[in-house]
Amino acid sequence: MDNLVVLGGAGFIGSAFVREVNRRGVTPTVFDALTYAGRTENLVGTGHALVRGDVRDPQALDKVLSGNVDVVVNFAAETHVDRSIYSPRGFVETNVLGVLNVLEASRKYDFKYVHVSTDEVYGDGRCADEDAALNPSSPYSASKASADLFVKAYVRTYGVKAIVVRPSNNYGPRQYPEKMIPKVIIRTLSGLPVPIYGDGRQERDWIYVEDTVRTMADVMEGSARWGGEVYNLPGGQPVTNLELVRTIGEVMGREVKVKFVEDRPGHDRRYCMEPSLEYKVMPLREGLSRTVEWYLQNRWWWEPLLDDKFFRDEAPWR
Ligand SMILES: NC(=O)c1ccc[n+]([C@@H]2O[C@H](COP(=O)([O-])OP(=O)(O)OC[C@H]3O[C@@H](n4cnc5c(N)ncnc54)[C@H](O)[C@@H]3O)[C@@H](O)[C@H]2O)c1
Repeated sequence: MDNLVVLGGAGFIGSAFVREVNRRGVTPTVFDALTYAGRTENLVGTGHALVRGDVRDPQALDKVLSGNVDVVVNFAAETHVDRSIYSPRGFVETNVLGVLNVLEASRKYDFKYVHVSTDEVYGDGRCADEDAALNPSSPYSASKASADLFVKAYVRTYGVKAIVVRPSNNYGPRQYPEKMIPKVIIRTLSGLPVPIYGDGRQERDWIYVEDTVRTMADVMEGSARWGGEVYNLPGGQPVTNLELVRTIGEVMGREVKVKFVEDRPGHDRRYCMEPSLEYKVMPLREGLSRTVEWYLQNRWWWEPLLDDKFFRDEAPWR
């Protein structure tokens, strides 16, 4: 991991990954467009060199990737399902064409590529192993699945060295308030009801962000053979959205007011993956307690973000 570039390293998981590699003695270059979700505040206290740039721009990527780069890890993406329903085009531009630009650079410069995907590419219901067919439901997951197929094609056709990691839903510090867990915490701290889409019985499998990034770094330094293999990283602790909200309320010691609202179009009922390897995960209640504590201690981080439609509205995809 000597010369490491982290694309999208100013976002939620990317900045946790920078902290993880810092602990392993590595100071990466972070390449990030600093969209609404990418914030330099997320990188405070870390060792890194920041280059502001966009994965949609091949020349900007070239400047950073043409040097003596060993590994590129790609967290740069549009990541919010509701936003993808509201306006899908940007998801294709960043999550598909942006990945194509990175793959083209890897053909030219021969670095190893860690492609960050998601459990959502497998779609609704079945418990998927790495070979399961991709069956995405939302524009977001369709864009992620498309990129995964391009990675596979580039490994096979051009001999690009890559692996694909598919974590389940992540949670922890520095997650943008549009996402479920920070939304529940912040709305409850603000005395606002939490909108629950549909019946609230959708099942998700949460993994604490530090478990994701530690396992990724372990794979990169250990078992990765760079032949396009896929690593499923579930949290192994599935809960329904209603159970999750109840647990957050217990951890906060507060009543969470819920408001049932219309369901999101195409909303998957359940994600489930078979893990590709053994790793330790934080028990959900403990991870939630750490997350709540972080949001309590860091109001300055989230208070300026609350006017965002995707935090504020009940059915923001409309
Ligand atoms: N958060 C989750 O629960 C989860 C679960 C599984 C997989 N993932 C995947 O992990 C990755 C990171 O997710 P996250 O939750 O940290 O996302 P995030 O939205 O918090 O951060 C995304 C980062 O990418 C940057 N970015 C966006 N568009 C860019 C562009 N065109 N060029 C350069 N940088 C750009 C943003 O500025 C930001 O720093 C994504 O690929 C996502 O699909 C996330």
